Formats: sequence, C-alpha cells, structure tokens
Amino acid sequence: MALDRKTPNDLNAFWMPFTANRQFKKAPRMFVGAKDMHYTTADGRQVLDGTAGLWCCNAGHCRPRISEAIAKQAAELDYAPAFQMGHPAAFELANRIIEIAPEGMEHVFYTNSGSESVETALKLAIAYHRARGEGARTRLIGRERGYHGVNFGGISVGGIVTNRKMFGSLLTGVDHLPHTHLPAQNAFSKGQPEHGANLADELERIVTLHGAETIAAVIVEPMAGSTGVLLPPKGYLQRLREITKKHGILLIFDEVITGFGRLGSAFAAQHYGVQPDMMTTAKGLTNGVIPMGAVLTTAAVHDAFMQGPEHMIELFHGYTYSGNPIAAAAGIATLETYKEEGLFERCAELAPYWQEALHSLRGTRHVIDIRNEGLIGAVELEPIAGEPTKRAFSAFLKAYEKGILIRTTGDIIAMSPPLIISKAQIDELIGTLKSVLDTLD
Ligand SMILES: Cc1ncc(COP(=O)(O)O)c(C=O)c1O
Repeated sequence: MALDRKTPNDLNAFWMPFTANRQFKKAPRMFVGAKDMHYTTADGRQVLDGTAGLWCCNAGHCRPRISEAIAKQAAELDYAPAFQMGHPAAFELANRIIEIAPEGMEHVFYTNSGSESVETALKLAIAYHRARGEGARTRLIGRERGYHGVNFGGISVGGIVTNRKMFGSLLTGVDHLPHTHLPAQNAFSKGQPEHGANLADELERIVTLHGAETIAAVIVEPMAGSTGVLLPPKGYLQRLREITKKHGILLIFDEVITGFGRLGSAFAAQHYGVQPDMMTTAKGLTNGVIPMGAVLTTAAVHDAFMQGPEHMIELFHGYTYSGNPIAAAAGIATLETYKEEGLFERCAELAPYWQEALHSLRGTRHVIDIRNEGLIGAVELEPIAGEPTKRAFSAFLKAYEKGILIRTTGDIIAMSPPLIISKAQIDELIGTLKSVLDTLD
C-alpha cells in the first residue's frame, strides 16, 4: 500500500523527541513543505518561521544551492569511510570553516550533532592534558542552566534540571558555575546586561575547592540559548577567559546556536572578542539540512596529540559519519550562501530593528522580561501559579494557529528567525505574538 506522506493516519510508532507526545498526537502539527521564511502545513497554511527551524536554518529554507549540492554529491560519491580514508569535500569544508573562525582556531573535528560535538570537546580536553603529562586534570566545569545536548557528558556539564534528573548519577568530577540570570537587576536589558560579571569569579572558588591541577576545562555557551536566551553580562566572558588562562584550564565555547552568524559575526567568540581554546558547532554549519557538527580547536590542542609512531592513530575517537561527503557538500554550499548573501552582516544590520521590535512588547500582558542580541530574542512570561510552562505552551499553540512558529522553554518564548528575514516579517512576527499574548489567559 502506498504511504500517504502528507497525512499519515497512525502516529503511534514514532516516539517524538522533546515533545508532549500525547498532546501532539491528539492535535498534530505537521509541516509538509518549506521555502525561504515559511513552512507549509499539511492543511495548506503558510507559517512564518520565527525560530530558523531549531536555531539552525540560518539561510532560510530549501535554498537551491544547498539542495543541489546535496543531490550532486549523493550521485557522485555517496559515502567514503571516515577512518583511514579521506575525500576532498571534508578537507575543503574544514578550510572554509577555519577561514571564518576566530584567530587561533586551526583544526576541525567532525561530528554529527551538537551533542556529539560536546562529547568530543570534553573528551579532547581530558585527553589533551593527559597527552601533555597532566593526567590529573579530569574535572569538567559547566554552568547552571547550560545546555550542551543530551548525551551523558553534555547533561553532566549542563545545568537544565529536567534534562538531568531522570538519568542517574551522570559523570563524576563535574562542578557548575552559577547561571547569570539576574532579573532583579537586569530585566528588560537591551543586549548584554550590566550586572553579573562578578559571577565569573565563582570559578576561582571552584578552583580553590578542587585544585587547578584537577580541572581540565570549563564549558559554557557564550550566549545560553536553549535555557531561554541568557546573555553574558558585560565583562563576564573576558573574566572567565582570564581565570581559565591563569590556571591552565581550557575554555570551551559551545557555539552550537551562536555559530554561523546568529549574533552578527561568524561566531560569538568574535562578537564578544574572547578567544576560547575549543568551540563546538553544528546546526547552522549545514543550514540544518543534513546532520553535521564540528569541533574547532587551536593548534596547541591538536598538536599535543601529534606524537608517537606515525603509523599509530593519534586519537581513538570518531564517528562513522564524521565528515560524511553529503554533509560536507551541504556545509560548503551553506557557507557559500552565507558569504554570497552577506547574511552575517545582514544579521548585524537588522539587530537594532529586531531589538526595538522585540522590546515594543514591554508592557504586554504577562511579560516580565525581554532579552535580545543579534537576531535572537526571548520574551519571558509570568508563569501561571502552580502550572509552570503552561502559559508559554498555550502561546506556542496559539501562535502556530495564527501563522507564526515560535519556541518555548519553561515560560520563556525564544525566537531566532532565519537571517534572511525582512523588516516587514519582523513586524509580522512580533505583531502576531503581541496579539497572541493579548488574548492569553
Ligand atoms: C548550545 C548547544 N549545545 C548543544 C546542543 C545539542 O545539539 P544537537 O541537538 O544537535 O545534539 C544544542 C542544541 O540546541 C545547543 O543549543
């Protein structure tokens, strides 16, 4: 029997990720097409994409250059073994990533997702110190409310309680910095908030507690996206860099969301002017079209492994699909699209307009904070007493009915539109959201 791809009548088998499965299957929300700034629903409606899919389709949807590159590569070289063999596209893409990366980043290790990039970076950090004869440096420091994907390393250094509490004892030897959300001092800040740089000094306390010689790395999102858009207070990242450097601790920026133009520079490291030792990326690397991630490292990290007999594998780590030809082709076409259309610059140019549009929601019912940077924004709602997350989820459902896609986490609405959005579409997105909030219980 031919499958009806548009309206499947049995939704039971697919256990959906990070989804209220029972609610969804009673009233499914199904996308069947996409073009540029819009999705098409199964019932033929257009929905304006306010989230670039899941913070990943930075160039918008179904861009011909990317789709064509994928089709061409699939017909030419579908797969090449990732271990002990190479193919040109993976090398080409690595060079192009390094071209736009912050100074000092010189090497690229491919993965298939943000979560795998995080696991890779954490393993690299521990192994790097061991390779240099500092094998006692095994501790990893994350941050409360941090999101670093869903694998064991990532949820261990991560700080989102719901993502951790179901899964046992996690990795040992992990500690956390405090989060930087200070609504009493910083609510309705435009861009980076003034207060909270001192929270980076908590790292000194952690170092004193454990001893610097036991700490391998600190991992933070330069701008924490998934927890609901928490910006680094002014001076905070610089302070983290100073303290990590002073104690010989690697600094890893998780740039899975902030990478590839989201803040108006290629990476947040450039936007904030702070140079980490490693960066984790995914999402916008292939415009979200094909799963791919990449860890960027300095020469110092990479070179520590390049020792011993030359016939020996230097790093016992990698994935069957690391640098997969089709993903690499998608990555090259994506970076070409960003460059040709000047999308990172476009993001920087649109950011002030986005900021003012977003902050025009101040005073709207239920809104207790608004945060923004680049083309990213959050509107925090007062939770319904005793029913956290419900108000924002209702907003999400109503917004979808009214033709805009937003994302919610807790009672926070997060938006991160493709970088091709027009001013008129920003007005539409924010205007529709306002009408949703106006009618929300
Ligand atoms: C900062 C950060 N790290 C890691 C991840 C995990 O990426 P993935 O879902 O591709 O595994 C995400 C996803 O949103 C993220 O925002």
